[in-house]
Amino acid sequence: MRTQVGIIGAGPAGLLLSHLLTQRGIESVLVENRSRAYCEARQRAGLLEDGTVKLLREAGLAQRLDTEGLEHGGIYLQFAGERHHLDFRELTGRTVTIYAQTEIVKDLIARRLADGGALEFEVSGTAVAGLGTARPVLSYTTAGGDRRELVCDAIAGCDGFHGICRPTIPADLLTVRDRAYPYAWLGITAEVPPSTDELIYNHHREGFALHTMRTPQVSRFYLQVRPDERIGDWPDDRIWAALQRRLALPGWELKEGPILDKAITPMRSFVSAPMRYGRLFLAGDAAHIVPPTGAKGLNLAVADVTVLANTLARLVQGDTQAADGYSDACLDRVWRATHFSWWMTSMLHTIPGGDPMDTDLQLAQLRYVTTSRAAATSLAENYTGYPPLR
Ligand code: APR
Ligand code: PHB
Repeated sequence: MRTQVGIIGAGPAGLLLSHLLTQRGIESVLVENRSRAYCEARQRAGLLEDGTVKLLREAGLAQRLDTEGLEHGGIYLQFAGERHHLDFRELTGRTVTIYAQTEIVKDLIARRLADGGALEFEVSGTAVAGLGTARPVLSYTTAGGDRRELVCDAIAGCDGFHGICRPTIPADLLTVRDRAYPYAWLGITAEVPPSTDELIYNHHREGFALHTMRTPQVSRFYLQVRPDERIGDWPDDRIWAALQRRLALPGWELKEGPILDKAITPMRSFVSAPMRYGRLFLAGDAAHIVPPTGAKGLNLAVADVTVLANTLARLVQGDTQAADGYSDACLDRVWRATHFSWWMTSMLHTIPGGDPMDTDLQLAQLRYVTTSRAAATSLAENYTGYPPLR
């Protein structure tokens, strides 16, 4: 069988890429080893940069985002018993929008199916070959058990951190930067209206906490825990008690409600370069991972595939030079976001076994960003996002 672009992975990167390619008149087939229901239920972050919202709007994908998304003009930073507001609108003229990644995935799948897009869920045995040739091959076994071989012009590896694409690139051609952090996030969704109008990022000696939200009726929270902790050791009462202690502020009340889901996610910074090998192009988590503190993961995936759609449009028209700039165009932004996410993470998390010097340095940095306009603007500029890539 023949298609122009074979896409592996139905996360935000693969799904958005297939839509952007259709808009450019390019045919693709997307294969995913999980079920549609699984992809639509996976809980992930939910904060969109200003530029991400604009890109989704331009791509005609923002109908529900524009009605249900919650636009935020800033965040709170809480430390040493004080809560400070950073006003992004005033500092940068930009805002961010809360809209869960799961909702974006649902919107994208619905749109792809409505447009007659080729999506194959529950495939197995995904493999790629011929990457150094002009006709790479994507093979897989369908849910029904048929083995397929798709001859493509290019293959997009949008298969996340644990996918098969990155490992097919010879290791001696890759530069990998990897840092695991000595903490993880325990995330919960709770059926209770948010106790805040904007996100609260909270520095506390017991560990970081974040109060975020999904809708006016549903809140989301994260707690810093050790990476080796098990979710079974965190009954609901223990989670609420920790959130109450860490987020406490005189005169402010944290409302509690039924917990709908909970999970522990490890944190790492990871960048693999280059993001291309012959006719295989990596995008999103397949090439880079950031800790969630800066909320950059989804935004980077969207930026990558925007560049990739334009790169592939030129490639399929016979412009073989087009591929050369892809990796560098993405990696500048990837490294900026990697630095920002590492910096936010380092400023806000309690270092296990850390000495008081570490804590005082963090507090000095937090005081600086909440009192210096220059420092606050730098945080706001990074948080609300970077100029669009083409
Ligand atoms: N064959 C087919 N599909 C695969 C394979 C495979 N061998 N391996 C992985 N996949 C699928 C996964 O099941 C998943 O649905 O690839 C998809 C990758 O999606 P994501 O992990 O969501 O990655 P990406 O689209 O790059 O989105 C990045 O997701 O992890 C968050 O924080 C991250 O918000 C960021 C966003
Ligand atoms: C979320 O809403 O899930 C979220 C928001 C901001 C972050 C991380 C996660 O930094």
